[in-house]
Order: sequence, then C-alpha cells, then structure tokens
Amino acid sequence: MKGYLKGIHPMLKENITELQQHPTPFYLYNLDLLRQTLQKAQQEASKYDFHVHYALKANANSPVLDEVRAVGFGADCVSGNEVKAAIENGFAPEDVVFAGVGKSDEEINYALDQDIFCFNCESSHELEILNELAANKNKVAQIALRINPNVNANTHKYITTGLEENKFGINAWELESVLSLLQKLENIKLIGIHFHIGSQIQDLSVFKNLCTRVNEFQEWFLSHNIELEHINVGGGLGVDYYHPEQQPIPDFEAYFSLFNQFLELRPGQQVHFELGRALVAQCGTLVSKVLYIKKGVNTNFAILDAGMTELIRPALYQSYHKIENLTSSAEEVRYDVVGPICESSDCFGKAVMLPETNRGDLIAIRTAGAYGEVMASQYNLRKKAEAIYL
Ligand code: LLP
Repeated sequence: MKGYLKGIHPMLKENITELQQHPTPFYLYNLDLLRQTLQKAQQEASKYDFHVHYALKANANSPVLDEVRAVGFGADCVSGNEVKAAIENGFAPEDVVFAGVGKSDEEINYALDQDIFCFNCESSHELEILNELAANKNKVAQIALRINPNVNANTHKYITTGLEENKFGINAWELESVLSLLQKLENIKLIGIHFHIGSQIQDLSVFKNLCTRVNEFQEWFLSHNIELEHINVGGGLGVDYYHPEQQPIPDFEAYFSLFNQFLELRPGQQVHFELGRALVAQCGTLVSKVLYIKKGVNTNFAILDAGMTELIRPALYQSYHKIENLTSSAEEVRYDVVGPICESSDCFGKAVMLPETNRGDLIAIRTAGAYGEVMASQYNLRKKAEAIYL
C-alpha cells in the first residue's frame, strides 16, 4: 500500500477499502475540507463586513448547503428552482439574490412570493416585466442593475461574462435610458448595482480592473443624484486544478483585501460577493473504475465507467482535472483517460502519466466539487451517479 498513494488527499487514502466497495462512479465530498474552506472565506470576508452569497449553481446538494448556511452566507441563485432549493434548505429569503438573463414569469412570481432580498436585473425589458408582475401582487421588488463593465476576465471564452459581446448585463451606454425608465416603474426599488465578469479567474489584477470600473459607475450614479446602498461584485475567484493538495483553500485573504483596498465605498454601503467554485471545487472528487485498457497506435486508452455525463468540464471547456490512480503502485505509463460515452470529446485527459493501470483500478478525478454533479446529464440514458460524504 505504501508509496503509491503519496500525493493523494488523505481522505481518499484513509477510506480506500470502504471506497472500493461502492458502486462506481460516484462523487465523493470531503465535508471537513468544505468546512475549513468556508470558515476561511468567512473569516476573511468578515474583516471588512463583506457579505458572501454562495452561488448555488456550483453545487446545490443539501449537505453542502447546510455547511454554507452554517457559516452565515446567503444564497446566489440563477433559477426559480435554485431560489426554492435555497429556501427549502433554510436560507432566509432576505439573504437570497436572484440573477439570470432569462427569468421566466413563473420564476419571478415565485421569488416575489418569497420576498427575496434582491433581483439582479439584466435588461430594460426584464425591469418592465418584473414591475408588472410585482404590481399584480401589490409588492415592490428590490433590484440591483447588473451592469456589463466590459472588463476582460482572461479566462475561457465560455465562462467570460463581462464583455460587451456577452449576453449578460446592461451596457454602460444604456444606463441613462434605464434610469428614466426606472422613474416610471413604481413597483421596483433600485438598491444597488451588480457585476459578474466571469469564472475561474486566477489573475487577481482582473478584480482590480473590476474595482476601477465599479468606482467609475458609482461616480456616474452619484452625478445623477443616486446613492446606492449595495454593491455586488459577483463571484469568479478561481482554484488550482493542477495542485489540489498544495492549495486546497484559495487565497481568500488576498482576494477580499484587494476589494477592500480598491473599491471606493461611500459611508454605509454594503459589499456583496457571489462565490461558487472557490468554496466547493476542491472538496469534491469524481471516483470511477477502470473498465478496459485498450492499446492504441500512439497511446493506451484507460476506459473508465465515468464520462462526460458525470463531469462535462473537460469536454466543454477543455479544462484540466488532475487524475490519479488510487489502487496501483506500478511504474508509470502514459494513457488517454476516456469515458464510455459515444463522443470523442468524452475524454478526461490526454497523455496522462499514471501507474500501470488495470481493469478494476479506482481512478480519482479531482477538483470536481464545483460544476460537476450539477452539470451531470443522463445522455446515453445513464443513471445519475451517487454522492458520498465523508
Ligand atoms: N454570480 C453569477 C451571476 C454567475 O453567473 C456565476 C457563475 C457566479 C456568481 C459564480 O461564479 P464562480 O464564483 O463559481 O466562478 N460551468 C462553468 C462555470 C460557469 C459559471 C457561471 N456563472 C465551469 O464549469 O467552469
């Protein structure tokens, strides 16, 4: 046993015998690491009285939400069902924010009934519809304008959201007309502005650029005699997919202190964050079994019983996830690690060095806690993989 588990997270190592009994594939969550991550984030955010709303889209499993709630974070939702999941899992409606370019009437009505804290609105048209639906209920909905700040997040193009070419948010040149529209909408109250420029952002200078833009927008609103109580800077902090052991907890200290340093706040203003990935990615692993080894022309294929149906990130964003063999200590050999789905993109990694791998070996695909299980599909009529919490 010694040696070959070196470098693999201790939780996997300690529980290997038990894990071998479970039907594969499954998602394995380390709640201890989750707790430590949440506590560190909470500790750093609270230094500056910042409010964190956990982005449920990253992982909405109840045991995960329980831990998030326990540290006092609110919820950031992008669908009616996420609002529902937040409320059913005990988040107070006054801690729930609701974003999304395409909120349906049904979703808006549900959120209005729950009296959530804030709708992050993404277009004039949405403002008009929200106003109408709120009026039908004799309510006044609190809103933040989601502004597209045209800041490049330097991340994968599919997870860049803050450029003018993206569908998200209201562009700067539309703000004047949005303000005159707002004056006519009596069932809407503007309480803040909202930004979210993208995800898996590792270069913190991107957030500094965001702060500069937020400060400029604040000036603009002040010049129109509008004082905003809430500034929501979204989420996006990235994690280290290459070294899940060395850096299991992202550098929340640097992240929050940057916003403290560069955001120019007016007295009484509250700052909100919507972190998803940074809080949950490292606590999750996709565990799979090797079904077959197949010799190719230039490579060997290790064919797993997990595929893009359980973790679509490599296929969709060409993203890297560290792959480890939990049960072999042999000499290293190069493999293309692939899934069973009938798509060539169903590949977790090319030319991956692994100890010589055999049928039945357990394979860990790391850093799968965020955007793993939530993006699972039943393509090829596959059944949903289980979640195990340790
Ligand atoms: N707030 C809003 C409005 C968002 O759209 C998102 C993510 C977040 C917060 C949370 O961002 P985070 O802190 O997790 O970066 N499926 C992709 C990621 C999509 C992110 C979508 N929006 C992936 O697997 O990389």
